[in-house]
Amino acid sequence: MEHIIGFLGGGNMAGAMIGGLLKTTDPARIRVADRHPEKLEHFAEAGVRTYEGPGDWVTECTLLVLAVKPQNMKEAVEPYVPFLNPEGCALSIAAGIEASALSAWLGGYRVLRAMPNTPALVGCGMTGFWAPEGTPDEMLAAALAVLKASGDVVRVPDENGIDLVGAIPGSGPAYVFRFMEALEAAGLKRGLDPKAARSLALGTVYGAAMLARSSDEPFSRLREKVTSKGGTTAKALEVMNARDVDGMMDEAIEAALKRTAEMKALFR
Ligand SMILES: NC(=O)c1ccc[n+]([C@@H]2O[C@H](COP(=O)([O-])OP(=O)(O)OC[C@H]3O[C@@H](n4cnc5c(N)ncnc54)[C@H](OP(=O)(O)O)[C@@H]3O)[C@@H](O)[C@H]2O)c1
Repeated sequence: MEHIIGFLGGGNMAGAMIGGLLKTTDPARIRVADRHPEKLEHFAEAGVRTYEGPGDWVTECTLLVLAVKPQNMKEAVEPYVPFLNPEGCALSIAAGIEASALSAWLGGYRVLRAMPNTPALVGCGMTGFWAPEGTPDEMLAAALAVLKASGDVVRVPDENGIDLVGAIPGSGPAYVFRFMEALEAAGLKRGLDPKAARSLALGTVYGAAMLARSSDEPFSRLREKVTSKGGTTAKALEVMNARDVDGMMDEAIEAALKRTAEMKALFR
């Protein structure tokens, strides 16, 4: 079946997903709606059909991706209810709104959830995906195809897994950028010029990630391979371990999960 994929919201994340999709999908199969006509121009130029609100076009969509901010979601989706395709489903990428709440706002429509992250903007996304039990294979395949167009996808077995995806790869680019800031600052403090300090920090993270990606070895083994006994790396790691990096990361993830739970409670 040739799915027609609609996007409600044509902002950053929809743009990243549509950008990926356009590499393999006929633009005539994609629809996007946004309340800002200027945000629709580049989609229209790529051959995507664009709209400023709901209408018969929604009924054509077998997969409707909900890509507005959580605080705008309820008012955004309600006008779409009369037009929903009864054979289709919605795929929400919003953080902190449970499928049951969304489905209620959509008059009982089937809702799948995904949590992408910003590297999707460059085709390197890491997305978590959840679908309720009994979702037809055809719908699963359609949703997975959309998500895989902008990077890797991990399917989580229950909906709470989406929260964890939000706390790890969802917020994770910020953790990595924070680490990069610290590496950059260490270089600057010791006299590197800003360009060199940035390049060294960026190259370190990029190279390590590429090396890890090309290997099946655990991260701990990869670390051991660059750590000679009594050497410089070992000395630096001693300092990091003394600061309990694992404990810090664990607390950080716990704090993100706690905030997600608070946000979810607001939308129930
Ligand atoms: N960006 C991320 O890192 C990330 C990661 C994972 C998940 N997400 C999720 O992805 C969703 C979209 O995020 P984003 O960063 O792409 O947001 P965004 O750039 O603000 O895009 C959303 C677009 O939808 C428009 N919109 C809002 N209400 C509308 C309505 N009723 N009808 C038509 N258009 C409407 C917005 O207009 P206004 O600006 O006027 O509201 C905006 O142009 C969010 O739910 C977020 O939780 C984002």
